Amino acid sequence: MTFKKTNKMTITIFGATGRMQHLLVQQALDTGHKVIGYARTPSKMTIQHPNLTLIKGTMLDKTAIEAAIEGSDVVIETVGCVSEGTKLIIQAMKKFKVKRLVVVSTSNAKDSKDLPDKKFALLLGMTRGVLKLLGLFNRQYRNAVSELRKIAEIVRNSDLDWTLVRVAGLNNKARSNHVKSGYLGQGRLSFTTSRADMADFLLQQVTDSTYIKQAPAISS
Ligand SMILES: NC(=O)c1ccc[n+]([C@@H]2O[C@H](COP(=O)([O-])OP(=O)(O)OC[C@H]3O[C@@H](n4cnc5c(N)ncnc54)[C@H](OP(=O)(O)O)[C@@H]3O)[C@@H](O)[C@H]2O)c1
Repeated sequence: MTFKKTNKMTITIFGATGRMQHLLVQQALDTGHKVIGYARTPSKMTIQHPNLTLIKGTMLDKTAIEAAIEGSDVVIETVGCVSEGTKLIIQAMKKFKVKRLVVVSTSNAKDSKDLPDKKFALLLGMTRGVLKLLGLFNRQYRNAVSELRKIAEIVRNSDLDWTLVRVAGLNNKARSNHVKSGYLGQGRLSFTTSRADMADFLLQQVTDSTYIKQAPAISS
């Protein structure tokens, strides 16, 4: 393991003001870590804590991104839809010698360890059908999927200690304390993940090297 592993770390979280991200920030603070929350709209953050610093910026703001990463031990990227921003984050991590990068991705993004999964393929097909019926299977959706694929490629090609965390079907159920992780087709994963479990898993990656340079899918 090449990244720093201590009980108290400084964690930079990109996209810190989202729903799952609020849970992640709170869990990180409760664990004793310092958090640098990066957001384009910091006023949406409802948590106040002496160990929480907020930095305002877009995913294309190189100066603000560097300010958020300098002095940090770990970066968790939860925006997941701006590939140019992922490039800037990786550049800044290399500049400031930060090695550990955890990036949110989607179970739709395939991994070579996945096995054929009929149930998941059916669910994906049904989701596409519903999106088409609602008129949401549009250019914006396809752009988002394309950005997610680009991000996965950029992260995989970095020489950082990266983990891509693939999720689907987020909901607001309570933390289970038993988040499942693995690869499609193993019969272990369900199709939904609570935001609390997702936050739990992302935070575990800060000190756990199991999935370095891997892209596990997770579920509750
Ligand atoms: N819902 C699912 O089933 C699913 C599946 C796969 C992955 N995910 C990912 O899981 C994560 C957590 O989901 P969630 O529903 O809890 O999050 P959420 O409440 O939708 O929050 C998303 C956060 O990302 C920020 N953001 C979005 N687009 C951005 C952009 N272009 N530039 C900068 N910031 C941007 C938002 O900032 P503002 O508040 O300023 O808008 C917000 O803080 C998200 O990254 C989501 O993409 C979700």
